[in-house]
Amino acid sequence: PAATATSGGHRTVTTVAHRGAPSYAPENTLASVDAAGRLGFDWVENDVQRTKDGGLVVLHDTSLARTTDVERVFPHRSPWNVGDFTLREIGKLDAGSWFGPEFTGERVPTLDAYLDEVEHNGQKLLLELKSPRRYPGIERQTLGELRRAGWLNASHIEHRLIVQSFDAAAVKTVHRLRPDVRTGLLGNPAAAGLPAYARYCDQINPAHTALTRAYVAAVKRLKGPHHRPLELYTWTVDDAPTARKAARLGVDGVISSRPDVVREALTGH
Ligand code: G3P
Ligand code: CA
Repeated sequence: PAATATSGGHRTVTTVAHRGAPSYAPENTLASVDAAGRLGFDWVENDVQRTKDGGLVVLHDTSLARTTDVERVFPHRSPWNVGDFTLREIGKLDAGSWFGPEFTGERVPTLDAYLDEVEHNGQKLLLELKSPRRYPGIERQTLGELRRAGWLNASHIEHRLIVQSFDAAAVKTVHRLRPDVRTGLLGNPAAAGLPAYARYCDQINPAHTALTRAYVAAVKRLKGPHHRPLELYTWTVDDAPTARKAARLGVDGVISSRPDVVREALTGH
């Protein structure tokens, strides 16, 4: 697949389009997923949160302020947290014009609409449960929505879905509820703690800044809950030297807001 880049002719590094392709379209929107698809990236990453009335939406920040016109539409609702707004209210917001006039009218996607778009594009999803402690039960709810959308059949589970979070308890809960779903733990856990995480995580996904060859090797020598070596995807790799360095250190994947730059760095095209 186009998103899997050969590095140095020896091995492959998967490039995940972080929040879609946010240098071409507003992050975490359907337009961003589509832009990633047009660039040839099959893996996309997103962030899932919950509204006041229990809807699941795709948004990175706790607040709607940076990536929508919420301050204009609801001027007295500071700090504009997603959990304080209903789905209907969020549906009124423009999530595109902050990025460029051609994206005016783009919406904050519901998870349901987002899954349909990713499915329609034939893409794969690295789904992040963002700040799950704010949203008790979001693990079960998200799995329910994935199931209803057809994302928990055997082939999606095997090839097209990973659920990740910075919150190890949430990752553990996802694994307990659906042991067949692949999971990832975001963050930089100490090497000594890795065997415990390997009981319920298929991936350890640290920031690139503190990555060493020894750490990558320590991750990859462990086996995950599905009896395969743990994988390591690092973030957020947005320039060529960092991409090449990550590949040299032996990562399996990079999560990038500039996936085309990474691909060029790793493959030359
Ligand atoms: O998937 C990795 C990355 O998304 C983690 O950081 O803040 O962009 O969600 P953040
Ligand atoms: Ca994320």
